[in-house]
Amino acid sequence: MSAEYGKDPLLSYNEYLQVRPLLELQRTLSDPVSHDELLFIIIHQTYELWFRQILHEIDATIGWINEDRLFRANHSMRVVQAIERVIVTQIHALETMAPIGFLEFRDKLNPASGFQSMQFRELEFTSGAKDESILATFADDDFAYRKLKERFDGPSLADTFWALLSRNGFDTSDHAARVASIVKILAQPERHENIYVLQDLLIEHDESIALWRSNHVMMVERMLGMKRGTGGSDGVGYLTSTLRKKFFPELWEARTHLTA
Ligand code: HEM
Repeated sequence: MSAEYGKDPLLSYNEYLQVRPLLELQRTLSDPVSHDELLFIIIHQTYELWFRQILHEIDATIGWINEDRLFRANHSMRVVQAIERVIVTQIHALETMAPIGFLEFRDKLNPASGFQSMQFRELEFTSGAKDESILATFADDDFAYRKLKERFDGPSLADTFWALLSRNGFDTSDHAARVASIVKILAQPERHENIYVLQDLLIEHDESIALWRSNHVMMVERMLGMKRGTGGSDGVGYLTSTLRKKFFPELWEARTHLTA
């Protein structure tokens, strides 16, 4: 390829994407190596990369909304929606693992658990579901704690959305007022155009994470039955209790009050 296509003629695909160091990051713990441990690590690392991109788009969305650039905000939420479709179904690749294959190396990763995923918690906090007791579980991990504290203290996507509605003349003073404002928007989609599309993308984000939770708990039960988690919870029982977590409860509730 001729040099004018890029400034560095020596730059290659492998160099640009850092493929060599990337392939050194899958460090198995089982010895002799358990066949399925590589799949287990790659799935988790892929999720963490997608979480990073989702956070990048949500942070951008918050910025665009604050600037009242809703076309751009909606575009970033569309990217989130497309990625979430991938991550909701991606879990099935891990479901192929035989429970006995998982048990071969499960003890080695104890007490590590997805419960400690810093980026999943960033995603929850920044979307609108902040939980001080979860923040406290990161107290011994300085790097994660600082990042999460910043997200805990900063405005979430939900806060940013309600501030947008307030700037546009909607009453957002309390929960009931917010629900009533959403009912007005749902009743007249064309009148509220970009705000209507945004609330639709936000409820879809909520739905996608709920679907992820649901697929994850089914996969966990298929793999472990009712065994305790490596993170110390009772496993399926705990995960089932998280299924109704919502970032935008008002958007869901408004559907109940909408009439023709
Ligand atoms: C064989 C595969 C897996 C098993 C058996 C498993 C099991 C569990 C269990 C039992 C918990 C509850 C906490 C605990 O006591 O450990 C949990 C939480 C969690 N796992 Fe997994 N998991 C698996 C794969 C994954 C994957 C691929 C991800 C992707 C990132 C993931 C992300 C999470 C997250 C974010 C939580 C916290 C959920 C919450 O607190 O709402 N897990 N997992």
